[in-house]
Amino acid sequence: MTDFLPAAGRSTIVVIDPTLAHRPLLNSAERAQAERFHFTKDAEHWTACRSALRRVLGEALGIDPATLSLEFGLQGKPQLPASYQSLHFNLSHCADLALLALCQDGPVGIDLEPVDRATSLLGCESSFCHPEEIATLPTAPDDRARTLLDLWTAKEAALKALGTGLSIDPASFSLAGLENGSIDEPRLHAFRFHRPEHPILQHHVACLAAPHGTAAPDFRILLP
Ligand SMILES: CC(C)(COP(=O)(O)OP(=O)(O)OC[C@H]1O[C@@H](n2cnc3c(N)ncnc32)[C@H](O)[C@@H]1OP(=O)(O)O)[C@@H](O)C(=O)NCCC(=O)NCCS
Repeated sequence: MTDFLPAAGRSTIVVIDPTLAHRPLLNSAERAQAERFHFTKDAEHWTACRSALRRVLGEALGIDPATLSLEFGLQGKPQLPASYQSLHFNLSHCADLALLALCQDGPVGIDLEPVDRATSLLGCESSFCHPEEIATLPTAPDDRARTLLDLWTAKEAALKALGTGLSIDPASFSLAGLENGSIDEPRLHAFRFHRPEHPILQHHVACLAAPHGTAAPDFRILLP
């Protein structure tokens, strides 16, 4: 079953509802990791997302999800072993939803945030925005908050695509040229940024950084 496997030049976003009963598919190290969560609900959430990740990768590759061994980059980015590395993926989750991006053309990064997080970013501009970005922010609070959330998701998607995560200071580079397709940061020239749109995302904001040249992502809904 390869419905999750994107064709060359395309990417897939798999929508996961972590509150549904996904069949647990963790290996022993992952079970131990789940046990380290302080709250049961966090352990269940993480278990649902990791199990869903295993199931989708297993189905995409046509292998038993339980036998899949994941590897981790220097800053913790999960990836497939060398024999499967033509399939790239990245996951982002918040309390009620998770998105898993897949692409065969190169690394991807995805970020998902609840839209009501936007106002909490007002006043935090200098902690993650480059001065060039701050100079272009709208002044009206609602517009400014929404622009900040868009910027945050784009920056996280970018840093997750690179695999560095927040070990690179998001304020150290500017995405001010994103709208017109010109970004100063050379490490990001390999990526195109998509704003995935789907009715299921009406209360969320997401950004996908995928290899340049990939089409807008196709959506799949993962049923438990
Ligand atoms: C990656 C990072 C930005 C995640 O941010 P977040 O908003 O909390 O979480 P998201 O839901 O968007 O993404 C989490 C998922 O990203 C993936 N991920 C983890 N590290 C990653 C990295 N360096 N690059 C890309 N993706 C990563 C994992 O699949 C993770 O899911 P999991 O927690 O179920 O394993 C943040 O954890 C980070 O900056 N990590 C790297 C730096 C670091 O702290 N390293 C120490 C560990 S070596």
